[in-house]
Amino acid sequence: MLLTLRVQGTRYSLRTGNCSRSRWLASNAVVEKSPPPAQPQLEVNGSTYATDSWTNVTPKILSYLGANKHLQKDHPLSIIRQRIVNYFYGAYRNQRGNPLFSVYDKLNPVVTVQQNFDNLLIPSDHVSRQKSDCYYINKHQLLRAHTTAHQVELISGGLDNFLVVGEVYRRDEIDSTHYPVFHQADAVRVVTKDKLFERNPGLELFEETWKGSLADPKLILPSSKCMDQTKQPCHTLEAVKLMEHEMKHVLVGLTKELFGPRIKYRWVETYFPFTQPSWELEIYFKNNWLEVLGCGIMRHEILQQSGVHQSIGYAFGVGLERLAMVLFDIPDIRLFWSNDSGFLSQFSEKDLHNLPKYKPISHYPQCTNDLSFWLPSDVEVDAGFSPNDFYDLVRTVAGDIVEQISLVDKFKHPKTGKSSVCFRIVYRHMERTLTQAEVNDIHKQIANASVDSFNVQIR
Ligand code: DAH
Repeated sequence: MLLTLRVQGTRYSLRTGNCSRSRWLASNAVVEKSPPPAQPQLEVNGSTYATDSWTNVTPKILSYLGANKHLQKDHPLSIIRQRIVNYFYGAYRNQRGNPLFSVYDKLNPVVTVQQNFDNLLIPSDHVSRQKSDCYYINKHQLLRAHTTAHQVELISGGLDNFLVVGEVYRRDEIDSTHYPVFHQADAVRVVTKDKLFERNPGLELFEETWKGSLADPKLILPSSKCMDQTKQPCHTLEAVKLMEHEMKHVLVGLTKELFGPRIKYRWVETYFPFTQPSWELEIYFKNNWLEVLGCGIMRHEILQQSGVHQSIGYAFGVGLERLAMVLFDIPDIRLFWSNDSGFLSQFSEKDLHNLPKYKPISHYPQCTNDLSFWLPSDVEVDAGFSPNDFYDLVRTVAGDIVEQISLVDKFKHPKTGKSSVCFRIVYRHMERTLTQAEVNDIHKQIANASVDSFNVQIR
């Protein structure tokens, strides 16, 4: 195991030689029974959307829209955003000395399936599209699962150097490093042949052999050809190497800017559907290698779809919570949602290069309760019942006082054939001590809501 500190950041990757099964490669159909939608229409961000059997956003999740923690003054996520943006403003300037990059940090998180997946060449049967992984508004719209979702719309609009910062939504387990809403920054830099080969005129962006019929924008490379870490068939090696060099130089610069000039780092080859070749950058932190960002040379099909035919680009994505937890020593991801002045006032530091470390407000005791139930007949874990459905229910009922949930036991009764599951729920309030009676009451509410929603039988 490479990482002990697992903090949400970017995770849509397959490392070469590291995992046998990839989130990006595996196709894994899951049968899910969905409860009928509570209402036929949903109002999100001032727009009305039809609901259908894909709808799984909860009112609790919708309540995070517009929170904009990444824009809140003195919030650690906002400080990190500002540092990334400042770095890019400084790293790339035009001839008049103005920043080349533009920043989009208030884009609507409601995106289409096309934006979040299709435009980025994510296969139609890919696991990351599953209802158990994303918050769908309906079959065609969802809360973006990564800020990469805005690439095609922005490039199509004529942009070639931009950063997108915002919150993203993913259904996940509950622990100190996972939260259903977290923040990412994504960047794209697209350059023309003349710009790339300024100092080497005469070189070409594209292989001679590729220029003919294969240049059809509708032709998407089969996935078997996307695993080659050297380059995409269309590009020349010179173009890829120059772009790779520039990208790595800039991203190492960003890492040093954030973590200090002596930070130890390494590049690890990986796979993303939207870039080829692709890498993750890892830093050495507290005796472990910690992945901080994903990047690569943009798949040329994405540029072509966006109307850009004669350029090459690089892109990268980074998770802000992960950076902030490391930089400020913040131990629990729920703290980013705290409105406690004891938390927020710690970061009102003006000097971005002299970041304060988080001082625990206090340590309140944990309270652990188990909940076991029988699933309905013919339903099993991940076949009709997804633990993520349960985690969502718990978040809706109990909110942030749940620190952790784990599936501690599951078994099938040999006679009845029914499946039983046991979840361990750890309760802890960030700002005060919870009483046992208070915890028991919430625990009971979770049990009742599970019976109502999943038709289970409490044991
Ligand atoms: N979207 C990826 C994730 O959430 C991160 C990422 C990787 C973004 C590579 C990019 C990129 O733009 O080029 O895991």
